[in-house]
Amino acid sequence: MGKRLTVIGTGYLGATHAAAMAELGFEVLGVDVDPKKIDSLSRGELPFHEPGLPELLLKHIDSGRLRFTTSIEEAGAFGDVHFVAVGTPQRAGEDAADMTYVDGAISSLAGAITRDALIVGKSTVPVGSARRLKSVIAEAKREDVKIDFAWNPEFLREGFAVQDTLRPDRLVVGTDSSRAHAVLREVYADALARETPYIATDFETAELVKVAANAFLATKISFINAFAEVTEAVGGDIRTLADAIGLDNRIGRRFLNSGVGFGGGCLPKDIRALQARVSELGLDRTMRFLGEIDEINLRRRDRVVYLAEELLDGLEGKRVAVLGTAFKPNSDDVRDSPALDVAARLFNGGAEVSVYDPKANDNSAKRFPRLNYCSTLSAAVSGADVVLVLTEWREFCDMRPQEIQALVNTQQIVDGRNVLDKNEWEGAGWTFRALGLRPSAVPARDLLSVN
Ligand code: UDX
Repeated sequence: MGKRLTVIGTGYLGATHAAAMAELGFEVLGVDVDPKKIDSLSRGELPFHEPGLPELLLKHIDSGRLRFTTSIEEAGAFGDVHFVAVGTPQRAGEDAADMTYVDGAISSLAGAITRDALIVGKSTVPVGSARRLKSVIAEAKREDVKIDFAWNPEFLREGFAVQDTLRPDRLVVGTDSSRAHAVLREVYADALARETPYIATDFETAELVKVAANAFLATKISFINAFAEVTEAVGGDIRTLADAIGLDNRIGRRFLNSGVGFGGGCLPKDIRALQARVSELGLDRTMRFLGEIDEINLRRRDRVVYLAEELLDGLEGKRVAVLGTAFKPNSDDVRDSPALDVAARLFNGGAEVSVYDPKANDNSAKRFPRLNYCSTLSAAVSGADVVLVLTEWREFCDMRPQEIQALVNTQQIVDGRNVLDKNEWEGAGWTFRALGLRPSAVPARDLLSVN
Protein backbone atom coordinates (compact mmCIF):
# COMPACT_ATOMS: atom_id res chain seq x y z
CA MET A 1 0.00 0.00 0.00
CA GLY A 2 1.21 3.51 -0.80
CA LYS A 3 2.48 5.73 1.96
CA ARG A 4 0.01 7.93 3.81
CA LEU A 5 1.17 11.48 4.30
CA THR A 6 0.18 14.32 6.56
CA VAL A 7 1.08 17.97 6.16
CA ILE A 8 1.03 19.98 9.39
CA GLY A 9 0.38 23.67 8.74
CA THR A 10 -1.75 24.52 5.70
CA GLY A 11 -0.49 27.98 4.77
CA TYR A 12 1.12 28.71 1.44
CA LEU A 13 3.70 25.98 1.65
CA GLY A 14 1.58 23.35 3.39
CA ALA A 15 -1.55 23.69 1.26
CA THR A 16 0.54 23.45 -1.90
CA HIS A 17 2.56 20.51 -0.65
CA ALA A 18 -0.59 18.65 0.43
CA ALA A 19 -2.33 19.12 -2.93
CA ALA A 20 0.84 18.26 -4.87
CA MET A 21 1.41 15.06 -2.91
CA ALA A 22 -2.20 14.01 -3.58
CA GLU A 23 -1.56 14.69 -7.27
CA LEU A 24 1.40 12.30 -7.05
CA GLY A 25 -0.98 9.58 -5.88
CA PHE A 26 -0.62 9.66 -2.11
CA GLU A 27 -3.40 9.77 0.44
CA VAL A 28 -2.89 13.07 2.24
CA LEU A 29 -4.27 14.59 5.41
CA GLY A 30 -3.73 18.33 5.88
CA VAL A 31 -3.69 19.58 9.49
CA ASP A 32 -4.02 23.06 10.90
CA VAL A 33 -4.94 24.55 14.27
CA ASP A 34 -7.19 27.12 12.55
CA PRO A 35 -10.68 25.59 12.11
CA LYS A 36 -11.72 28.35 9.69
CA LYS A 37 -8.79 27.56 7.41
CA ILE A 38 -9.60 23.85 7.55
CA ASP A 39 -13.27 24.49 6.73
CA SER A 40 -12.50 26.59 3.70
CA LEU A 41 -9.75 24.26 2.44
CA SER A 42 -12.19 21.34 2.78
CA ARG A 43 -14.47 23.22 0.39
CA GLY A 44 -11.54 23.77 -1.96
CA GLU A 45 -11.25 27.48 -1.10
CA LEU A 46 -7.88 29.13 -0.63
CA PRO A 47 -7.26 32.28 1.43
CA PHE A 48 -4.63 33.42 -1.12
CA HIS A 49 -4.15 33.62 -4.87
CA GLU A 50 -2.03 30.86 -6.36
CA PRO A 51 -2.48 29.87 -10.02
CA GLY A 52 -3.50 26.22 -10.47
CA LEU A 53 -3.76 25.42 -6.78
CA PRO A 54 -7.55 25.73 -6.29
CA GLU A 55 -8.07 23.33 -9.23
CA LEU A 56 -5.62 20.81 -7.79
CA LEU A 57 -7.19 21.08 -4.37
CA LEU A 58 -10.71 20.46 -5.70
CA LYS A 59 -9.51 17.62 -7.91
CA HIS A 60 -8.16 15.71 -4.95
CA ILE A 61 -10.87 16.56 -2.47
CA ASP A 62 -13.13 14.96 -5.11
CA SER A 63 -10.78 12.02 -5.71
CA GLY A 64 -10.86 11.43 -1.95
CA ARG A 65 -7.07 11.47 -1.70
CA LEU A 66 -6.97 14.81 0.14
CA ARG A 67 -8.69 15.62 3.44
CA PHE A 68 -8.22 18.24 6.13
CA THR A 69 -8.54 18.14 9.89
CA THR A 70 -7.70 20.13 13.01
CA SER A 71 -6.91 16.97 14.93
CA ILE A 72 -3.23 16.23 15.51
CA GLU A 73 -4.29 12.87 17.06
CA GLU A 74 -5.95 11.92 13.80
CA ALA A 75 -2.77 12.90 11.97
CA GLY A 76 -0.60 10.89 14.36
CA ALA A 77 -2.67 7.77 13.77
CA PHE A 78 -2.97 8.31 10.00
CA GLY A 79 0.46 9.13 8.62
CA ASP A 80 3.55 7.19 7.64
CA VAL A 81 5.28 10.45 6.76
CA HIS A 82 4.48 13.78 8.41
CA PHE A 83 5.59 17.00 6.73
CA VAL A 84 5.82 20.00 9.02
CA ALA A 85 5.18 23.21 7.08
CA VAL A 86 4.16 25.75 9.73
CA GLY A 87 5.38 29.33 9.54
CA THR A 88 8.48 30.90 11.08
CA PRO A 89 7.61 34.61 11.04
CA GLN A 90 9.93 37.37 12.17
CA ARG A 91 9.62 37.80 15.94
CA ALA A 92 7.82 41.00 16.90
CA GLY A 93 10.36 43.79 17.36
CA GLU A 94 13.30 41.51 16.56
CA ASP A 95 15.13 40.12 13.55
CA ALA A 96 15.16 36.50 14.71
CA ALA A 97 12.70 33.86 13.53
CA ASP A 98 9.83 32.89 15.79
CA MET A 99 10.08 29.12 16.33
CA THR A 100 6.97 28.81 18.51
CA TYR A 101 4.84 27.20 15.81
CA VAL A 102 7.50 24.73 14.63
CA ASP A 103 8.33 23.66 18.17
CA GLY A 104 4.66 23.36 19.08
CA ALA A 105 3.74 21.41 15.94
CA ILE A 106 6.65 18.97 16.20
CA SER A 107 6.27 18.19 19.89
CA SER A 108 2.49 17.69 19.72
CA LEU A 109 2.85 15.63 16.56
CA ALA A 110 5.57 13.43 18.07
CA GLY A 111 3.31 12.78 21.08
CA ALA A 112 0.38 11.89 18.82
CA ILE A 113 2.21 9.38 16.61
CA THR A 114 1.03 5.85 17.38
CA ARG A 115 3.20 3.81 15.00
CA ASP A 116 6.62 3.98 13.37
CA ALA A 117 6.83 7.06 11.18
CA LEU A 118 9.01 9.73 9.62
CA ILE A 119 8.76 13.43 10.49
CA VAL A 120 10.05 15.80 7.79
CA GLY A 121 10.60 19.48 8.58
CA LYS A 122 10.02 21.81 5.63
CA SER A 123 9.79 25.22 7.33
CA THR A 124 12.64 27.72 7.00
CA VAL A 125 14.43 27.59 10.35
CA PRO A 126 17.57 28.96 12.02
CA VAL A 127 20.52 26.61 11.59
CA GLY A 128 20.77 24.24 14.54
CA SER A 129 16.99 23.88 14.94
CA ALA A 130 16.68 20.41 13.42
CA ARG A 131 19.27 18.88 15.74
CA ARG A 132 17.50 20.45 18.70
CA LEU A 133 14.09 19.31 17.45
CA LYS A 134 15.40 15.76 17.20
CA SER A 135 15.68 15.71 21.00
CA VAL A 136 12.26 17.36 21.31
CA ILE A 137 10.85 14.41 19.33
CA ALA A 138 12.77 11.86 21.40
CA GLU A 139 11.29 13.31 24.58
CA ALA A 140 7.72 13.74 23.34
CA LYS A 141 7.24 10.43 21.52
CA ARG A 142 5.74 7.25 22.91
CA GLU A 143 8.34 4.72 23.92
CA ASP A 144 6.98 1.97 21.70
CA VAL A 145 7.24 3.89 18.43
CA LYS A 146 10.27 4.66 16.33
CA ILE A 147 10.33 8.07 14.69
CA ASP A 148 12.86 9.01 12.02
CA PHE A 149 13.49 12.66 11.34
CA ALA A 150 14.72 14.67 8.35
CA TRP A 151 14.95 18.29 7.22
CA ASN A 152 13.82 18.92 3.66
CA PRO A 153 13.66 22.65 2.84
CA GLU A 154 11.24 23.98 0.27
CA PHE A 155 12.21 26.42 -2.47
CA LEU A 156 8.83 27.20 -3.98
CA ARG A 157 8.09 30.63 -5.41
CA GLU A 158 4.72 32.27 -5.02
CA GLY A 159 2.92 32.27 -8.34
CA PHE A 160 4.74 29.06 -9.34
CA ALA A 161 4.08 27.08 -6.18
CA VAL A 162 2.41 24.07 -7.82
CA GLN A 163 4.97 23.76 -10.58
CA ASP A 164 7.88 24.23 -8.16
CA THR A 165 6.51 21.50 -5.87
CA LEU A 166 5.70 18.98 -8.59
CA ARG A 167 8.86 19.71 -10.59
CA PRO A 168 11.47 20.95 -8.11
CA ASP A 169 14.92 21.82 -9.44
CA ARG A 170 16.55 19.99 -6.54
CA LEU A 171 15.64 17.97 -3.46
CA VAL A 172 17.70 18.61 -0.36
CA VAL A 173 17.39 16.20 2.56
CA GLY A 174 19.33 16.54 5.80
CA THR A 175 19.15 13.57 8.14
CA ASP A 176 21.23 11.03 10.01
CA SER A 177 18.80 8.24 9.20
CA SER A 178 19.22 6.03 6.12
CA ARG A 179 15.63 4.88 6.53
CA ALA A 180 14.50 8.51 6.19
CA HIS A 181 16.34 8.75 2.86
CA ALA A 182 14.77 5.51 1.65
CA VAL A 183 11.26 6.71 2.54
CA LEU A 184 11.74 10.15 0.98
CA ARG A 185 13.17 8.65 -2.21
CA GLU A 186 9.90 6.72 -2.42
CA VAL A 187 7.80 9.83 -1.77
CA TYR A 188 9.75 11.82 -4.38
CA ALA A 189 10.04 8.93 -6.87
CA ASP A 190 8.32 10.96 -9.59
CA ALA A 191 10.84 13.82 -9.43
CA LEU A 192 13.75 11.39 -9.09
CA ALA A 193 12.59 9.53 -12.23
CA ARG A 194 13.08 12.85 -14.03
CA GLU A 195 16.63 12.99 -12.72
CA THR A 196 16.01 15.77 -10.23
CA PRO A 197 19.19 15.99 -8.14
CA TYR A 198 18.70 14.52 -4.65
CA ILE A 199 21.16 16.02 -2.22
CA ALA A 200 21.62 13.85 0.86
CA THR A 201 23.27 15.79 3.62
CA ASP A 202 23.28 16.59 7.34
CA PHE A 203 20.73 18.70 9.23
CA GLU A 204 22.80 21.88 9.33
CA THR A 205 23.62 21.92 5.61
CA ALA A 206 19.98 21.34 4.70
CA GLU A 207 18.86 24.22 6.91
CA LEU A 208 21.58 26.48 5.53
CA VAL A 209 20.92 25.66 1.87
CA LYS A 210 17.55 27.32 2.16
CA VAL A 211 18.68 30.54 3.81
CA ALA A 212 21.81 30.72 1.68
CA ALA A 213 19.70 30.51 -1.49
CA ASN A 214 17.42 33.32 -0.32
CA ALA A 215 20.35 35.43 0.91
CA PHE A 216 22.03 35.04 -2.47
CA LEU A 217 18.89 36.08 -4.36
CA ALA A 218 18.42 39.10 -2.09
CA THR A 219 22.08 40.00 -2.62
CA LYS A 220 21.71 39.82 -6.40
CA ILE A 221 18.74 42.20 -6.31
CA SER A 222 20.42 44.68 -3.96
CA PHE A 223 23.63 44.43 -5.97
CA ILE A 224 21.95 45.70 -9.13
CA ASN A 225 19.97 48.22 -7.08
CA ALA A 226 23.21 49.60 -5.62
CA PHE A 227 24.38 50.15 -9.20
CA ALA A 228 21.04 51.85 -9.84
CA GLU A 229 22.05 54.42 -7.22
CA VAL A 230 25.20 55.02 -9.24
CA THR A 231 23.45 55.37 -12.61
CA GLU A 232 20.94 57.71 -10.99
CA ALA A 233 23.86 59.95 -10.06
CA VAL A 234 26.10 59.72 -13.08
CA GLY A 235 23.88 58.56 -15.94
CA GLY A 236 23.93 55.21 -17.71
CA ASP A 237 21.32 52.58 -18.23
CA ILE A 238 20.72 50.08 -15.46
CA ARG A 239 18.81 47.67 -17.69
CA THR A 240 21.60 47.46 -20.24
CA LEU A 241 24.12 47.07 -17.43
CA ALA A 242 22.10 44.11 -16.06
CA ASP A 243 21.76 42.57 -19.53
CA ALA A 244 25.47 42.93 -20.18
CA ILE A 245 26.72 41.42 -16.93
CA GLY A 246 23.94 38.82 -17.05
CA LEU A 247 25.38 37.45 -20.30
CA ASP A 248 28.31 36.16 -18.28
CA ASN A 249 27.08 32.65 -17.43
CA ARG A 250 28.77 32.82 -14.07
CA ILE A 251 26.55 35.77 -13.17
CA GLY A 252 23.30 35.11 -15.08
CA ARG A 253 20.58 37.64 -15.88
CA ARG A 254 17.88 36.36 -13.52
CA PHE A 255 17.22 38.33 -10.31
CA LEU A 256 19.04 41.34 -11.72
CA ASN A 257 15.90 43.36 -12.33
CA SER A 258 16.44 46.73 -10.77
CA GLY A 259 13.46 48.46 -9.21
CA VAL A 260 11.72 49.16 -5.95
CA GLY A 261 13.28 46.05 -4.43
CA PHE A 262 12.37 42.77 -2.84
CA GLY A 263 9.56 42.03 -0.41
CA GLY A 264 7.28 39.12 0.37
CA GLY A 265 7.03 36.54 3.08
CA CYS A 266 10.54 35.10 2.63
CA LEU A 267 13.47 37.19 1.42
CA PRO A 268 13.28 40.09 3.92
CA LYS A 269 12.60 37.97 6.99
CA ASP A 270 15.06 35.26 6.00
CA ILE A 271 18.03 37.58 5.61
CA ARG A 272 17.22 39.20 8.96
CA ALA A 273 16.81 35.86 10.71
CA LEU A 274 20.07 34.61 9.22
CA GLN A 275 21.98 37.63 10.52
CA ALA A 276 20.39 37.21 13.94
CA ARG A 277 21.23 33.51 14.07
CA VAL A 278 24.81 33.96 12.96
CA SER A 279 25.30 36.71 15.57
CA GLU A 280 23.97 34.35 18.22
CA LEU A 281 26.69 31.95 17.14
CA GLY A 282 29.24 34.64 17.94
CA LEU A 283 29.97 35.41 14.26
CA ASP A 284 28.89 39.04 14.41
CA ARG A 285 30.78 40.20 11.35
CA THR A 286 30.06 37.24 9.10
CA MET A 287 26.65 38.22 7.76
CA ARG A 288 26.95 41.92 8.37
CA PHE A 289 26.79 42.53 4.61
CA LEU A 290 23.20 41.31 4.71
CA GLY A 291 22.41 44.39 6.80
CA GLU A 292 23.65 46.45 3.84
CA ILE A 293 21.59 44.33 1.45
CA ASP A 294 18.52 45.10 3.55
CA GLU A 295 19.35 48.82 3.67
CA ILE A 296 19.98 49.14 -0.06
CA ASN A 297 16.64 47.43 -0.55
CA LEU A 298 14.81 49.84 1.77
CA ARG A 299 16.50 52.88 0.21
CA ARG A 300 14.79 52.05 -3.09
CA ARG A 301 11.48 52.86 -1.44
CA ASP A 302 12.84 56.22 -0.25
CA ARG A 303 13.94 56.92 -3.79
CA VAL A 304 10.49 56.37 -5.31
CA VAL A 305 8.90 58.56 -2.66
CA TYR A 306 11.55 61.22 -3.36
CA LEU A 307 10.94 61.08 -7.13
CA ALA A 308 7.20 61.52 -6.62
CA GLU A 309 7.71 64.38 -4.18
CA GLU A 310 10.10 66.08 -6.55
CA LEU A 311 7.83 65.77 -9.57
CA LEU A 312 4.87 67.05 -7.56
CA ASP A 313 6.79 69.74 -5.76
CA GLY A 314 5.52 68.42 -2.41
CA LEU A 315 2.89 65.80 -1.66
CA GLU A 316 0.23 67.73 0.22
CA GLY A 317 -3.11 67.45 -1.57
CA LYS A 318 -1.53 65.96 -4.72
CA ARG A 319 -3.15 63.01 -6.47
CA VAL A 320 -0.96 59.98 -6.87
CA ALA A 321 -1.97 56.83 -8.76
CA VAL A 322 -0.18 53.70 -7.56
CA LEU A 323 -0.30 50.76 -9.98
CA GLY A 324 0.45 47.54 -8.13
CA THR A 325 0.62 46.83 -4.42
CA ALA A 326 1.51 43.11 -4.42
CA PHE A 327 5.14 42.34 -3.61
CA LYS A 328 5.45 40.85 -7.09
CA PRO A 329 3.15 40.18 -10.05
CA ASN A 330 0.77 37.19 -10.17
CA SER A 331 0.39 37.30 -6.41
CA ASP A 332 -2.06 38.86 -3.98
CA ASP A 333 0.55 38.84 -1.23
CA VAL A 334 1.38 42.23 0.31
CA ARG A 335 3.62 41.03 3.13
CA ASP A 336 6.57 43.42 3.30
CA SER A 337 5.56 44.73 -0.11
CA PRO A 338 7.72 47.66 -1.29
CA ALA A 339 4.81 48.89 -3.45
CA LEU A 340 2.30 49.04 -0.62
CA ASP A 341 4.86 50.62 1.69
CA VAL A 342 5.48 53.39 -0.84
CA ALA A 343 1.73 53.95 -1.31
CA ALA A 344 1.24 54.24 2.46
CA ARG A 345 4.18 56.64 2.81
CA LEU A 346 2.86 58.91 0.08
CA PHE A 347 -0.50 58.95 1.85
CA ASN A 348 1.13 59.70 5.18
CA GLY A 349 3.04 62.51 3.44
CA GLY A 350 -0.28 64.20 2.56
CA ALA A 351 -1.02 62.86 -0.94
CA GLU A 352 -4.36 61.49 -2.06
CA VAL A 353 -3.44 57.98 -3.15
CA SER A 354 -5.50 55.96 -5.63
CA VAL A 355 -4.45 52.36 -5.91
CA TYR A 356 -5.12 49.54 -8.32
CA ASP A 357 -3.74 46.02 -8.14
CA PRO A 358 -5.28 43.24 -10.25
CA LYS A 359 -5.31 40.83 -7.28
CA ALA A 360 -4.02 42.48 -4.11
CA ASN A 361 -6.55 45.29 -3.49
CA ASP A 362 -8.37 43.36 -0.75
CA ASN A 363 -5.24 42.34 1.14
CA SER A 364 -3.85 45.87 0.82
CA ALA A 365 -7.08 47.41 2.11
CA LYS A 366 -6.86 45.21 5.22
CA ARG A 367 -3.52 46.83 6.02
CA PHE A 368 -4.12 50.36 4.76
CA PRO A 369 -7.86 50.96 4.58
CA ARG A 370 -7.49 54.69 3.94
CA LEU A 371 -6.05 54.49 0.43
CA ASN A 372 -8.54 54.89 -2.39
CA TYR A 373 -8.81 51.39 -3.87
CA CYS A 374 -9.95 51.28 -7.50
CA SER A 375 -11.20 48.31 -9.45
CA THR A 376 -9.58 49.30 -12.75
CA LEU A 377 -6.37 50.86 -13.97
CA SER A 378 -8.32 53.66 -15.64
CA ALA A 379 -10.14 54.56 -12.43
CA ALA A 380 -6.86 54.70 -10.51
CA VAL A 381 -5.09 57.03 -12.94
CA SER A 382 -8.07 59.36 -13.42
CA GLY A 383 -7.12 62.86 -12.33
CA ALA A 384 -3.62 61.77 -11.25
CA ASP A 385 -0.80 64.27 -10.93
CA VAL A 386 1.66 61.40 -11.17
CA VAL A 387 1.37 57.67 -11.95
CA LEU A 388 3.69 55.19 -10.23
CA VAL A 389 4.21 51.65 -11.54
CA LEU A 390 5.34 49.63 -8.53
CA THR A 391 4.50 45.99 -9.37
CA GLU A 392 5.20 44.70 -12.85
CA TRP A 393 1.86 43.10 -13.68
CA ARG A 394 1.55 42.38 -17.42
CA GLU A 395 -1.31 44.88 -17.62
CA PHE A 396 1.02 47.68 -16.50
CA CYS A 397 3.96 46.60 -18.66
CA ASP A 398 1.63 46.64 -21.70
CA MET A 399 0.12 50.03 -20.82
CA ARG A 400 0.51 52.62 -23.61
CA PRO A 401 0.75 56.38 -22.90
CA GLN A 402 -2.09 57.10 -25.34
CA GLU A 403 -4.46 54.86 -23.39
CA ILE A 404 -4.23 56.88 -20.20
CA GLN A 405 -3.16 60.34 -21.16
CA ALA A 406 -6.67 61.75 -21.47
CA LEU A 407 -7.43 60.46 -17.98
CA VAL A 408 -4.59 61.93 -15.97
CA ASN A 409 -4.29 65.47 -14.73
CA THR A 410 -0.56 65.75 -15.41
CA GLN A 411 1.47 63.50 -17.71
CA GLN A 412 4.06 62.32 -15.22
CA ILE A 413 5.07 58.73 -14.62
CA VAL A 414 7.55 56.91 -12.38
CA ASP A 415 8.58 53.44 -13.49
CA GLY A 416 9.46 51.70 -10.23
CA ARG A 417 10.14 48.34 -11.93
CA ASN A 418 12.00 49.31 -15.11
CA VAL A 419 9.39 47.84 -17.39
CA LEU A 420 8.33 50.84 -19.49
CA ASP A 421 9.97 52.34 -22.55
CA LYS A 422 11.28 55.79 -21.68
CA ASN A 423 11.42 56.95 -25.31
CA GLU A 424 7.82 55.97 -25.92
CA TRP A 425 6.55 57.86 -22.86
CA GLU A 426 8.72 60.90 -23.41
CA GLY A 427 7.79 60.85 -27.10
CA ALA A 428 4.13 61.06 -26.09
CA GLY A 429 4.89 64.13 -23.98
CA TRP A 430 5.21 62.57 -20.55
CA THR A 431 7.74 63.43 -17.88
CA PHE A 432 9.34 60.08 -17.25
CA ARG A 433 11.33 58.92 -14.20
CA ALA A 434 12.60 55.47 -13.37
CA LEU A 435 14.72 53.86 -10.71
CA GLY A 436 18.29 53.69 -11.89
CA LEU A 437 17.73 56.48 -14.37
CA ARG A 438 19.26 59.93 -14.15
CA PRO A 439 16.45 62.38 -14.90
CA SER A 440 17.22 63.82 -18.35
CA ALA A 441 16.64 67.41 -17.24
CA VAL A 442 19.30 67.17 -14.53
CA PRO A 443 22.94 67.45 -15.66
CA ALA A 444 25.29 64.57 -14.82
CA ARG A 445 27.27 65.18 -11.69
CA ASP A 446 30.86 65.61 -12.73
CA LEU A 447 32.46 63.02 -10.52
CA LEU A 448 35.97 64.16 -11.46
CA SER A 449 35.37 67.76 -10.55
CA VAL A 450 37.21 68.85 -7.44
CA ASN A 451 35.63 72.29 -7.25
C1 UDX B 1 11.42 33.52 -2.76
C2 UDX B 1 12.42 32.54 -3.39
O1 UDX B 1 12.58 32.86 -4.77
C3 UDX B 1 11.93 31.11 -3.22
O2 UDX B 1 12.88 30.20 -3.75
C4 UDX B 1 11.74 30.85 -1.74
O3 UDX B 1 11.25 29.55 -1.54
C5 UDX B 1 10.77 31.87 -1.14
O4 UDX B 1 11.24 33.19 -1.39
P1 UDX B 1 9.06 34.54 -3.47
O5 UDX B 1 9.04 35.23 -2.15
O6 UDX B 1 7.83 33.85 -3.96
O7 UDX B 1 10.19 33.41 -3.48
O8 UDX B 1 9.44 35.65 -4.55
P2 UDX B 1 10.59 35.90 -5.61
O9 UDX B 1 10.10 35.55 -6.96
O10 UDX B 1 11.88 35.33 -5.19
O11 UDX B 1 10.68 37.50 -5.52
C6 UDX B 1 11.05 38.12 -4.28
C7 UDX B 1 11.06 39.61 -4.40
O12 UDX B 1 12.18 40.06 -5.16
C8 UDX B 1 9.83 40.25 -5.08
O13 UDX B 1 9.44 41.38 -4.32
C9 UDX B 1 10.33 40.65 -6.45
O14 UDX B 1 9.64 41.75 -6.98
C10 UDX B 1 11.78 41.00 -6.13
N1 UDX B 1 12.67 40.88 -7.30
C11 UDX B 1 12.88 39.67 -7.86
C12 UDX B 1 13.33 42.00 -7.78
O15 UDX B 1 13.18 43.11 -7.28
N2 UDX B 1 14.19 41.85 -8.84
C13 UDX B 1 14.41 40.66 -9.44
O16 UDX B 1 15.21 40.61 -10.38
C14 UDX B 1 13.74 39.53 -8.94
